[in-house]
Amino acid sequence: MKIESKTVHWGDRRKAGNFTPVTTPIYTAASYVYESMEQLDRVFALEESGPSYARYDNPTRSALEELVRELESGAGAIACASGMAGIHMAVLAALMDRPKRVVAANMMYGATTSMLMNIFGPLGVETAQVDPCDLAAFEATLNEEKTAAVVVETIANPLLRVPALDKIAAICRAADVPLIVDNTFATPMLVRPLELGANIVCHSATKYLAGHGDVLGGVIVADQANFDALRTLSRTIGPVMGPFESYLTLRGIKTLALRVERQCANACKVASWLAAHPRVERTFFPGDPKHPDADSIGRLFPPNRYGGLVSFELKGAGRTEVFRFMEKLQMVVRATSLGDVHTLMMYPVMGSHRDLSPKHRERLGIRDNLMRISVGIEAVEDIIADLEQALRA
Ligand SMILES: Cc1ncc(COP(=O)(O)O)c(C=O)c1O
Repeated sequence: MKIESKTVHWGDRRKAGNFTPVTTPIYTAASYVYESMEQLDRVFALEESGPSYARYDNPTRSALEELVRELESGAGAIACASGMAGIHMAVLAALMDRPKRVVAANMMYGATTSMLMNIFGPLGVETAQVDPCDLAAFEATLNEEKTAAVVVETIANPLLRVPALDKIAAICRAADVPLIVDNTFATPMLVRPLELGANIVCHSATKYLAGHGDVLGGVIVADQANFDALRTLSRTIGPVMGPFESYLTLRGIKTLALRVERQCANACKVASWLAAHPRVERTFFPGDPKHPDADSIGRLFPPNRYGGLVSFELKGAGRTEVFRFMEKLQMVVRATSLGDVHTLMMYPVMGSHRDLSPKHRERLGIRDNLMRISVGIEAVEDIIADLEQALRA
């Protein structure tokens, strides 16, 4: 079955008594009874599948987990209360029986960097940051010391760099270090990191997977070697997605293929239009033939699909001019988040990367005139018309 068909069918139609619901309902029960105590005992022992207690398992959540596991070609998945809860669990699982060192991309979602530095740091975990697009530097940093895990994003936030995941996975495999990939921006419609050799994939389901701006959630998908540790952690700590959010995410994913196709097509047009606008200093878009990672993009992405995100710099602008521009937007929503059906614009200096010092941001190339658009599924003419009127001085 092709991935477009899986998004529509997978996870659903599990038998419930003498009938089978066509789409998975919202199960709110906190615990479950079985015909016999022997059977409940087998369920507790994971010898028989089925829910026993909501922290361990929930039928709505497990339908979603089964769907995303299949889309990402993993051995098992866990749906979490947020994207960050998922990344936290992935890193924690990797650290359990390994050295207290992580190698992470130097440019990622700000909260992921903060979590590594400010939460794992004081617990004695050292994080070495490196540019994952510089493979020689990446390999040298990884091999400096024994490492528990590598953390990178498929499309790095917010300058939309694309590391060579296949080559990074090979380097990690040679060093016997698990590779954790945040695939939120790419979605399994564009890239499936486990198929390229990664070990754990994380999603903020808040974004493209759920897709409608009404869910906070995450999903992590692991290969066989890493799934048991994750499941044990999840069952013990319980940072899991609730049944209502699981239902909405499951429902959202049914249109993921259509949404991503339209968002990619719209983003290509918005990026070209912005690149030609006299008030725009620079655009950052994986579909740009002059993109610094064009080789990786050509190898890893399907043809003509580069994701729905476009970043750009407004010529000569600082915070005041950026605020003025964003306040003029009428249809495009100026809010944090991404991957929704509606077009969203975000100011990384204020949002995703506000916790970094100005010097640190400057080193990474995140300037005060940089904005990020998450292109939605509206008529692209309307998106461009709104940008055009807001860019009029
Ligand atoms: C790439 C990426 N990963 C993880 C997260 C965190 O997800 P959540 O807000 O669902 O915890 C975000 C949120 O913006 C993100 O952009």
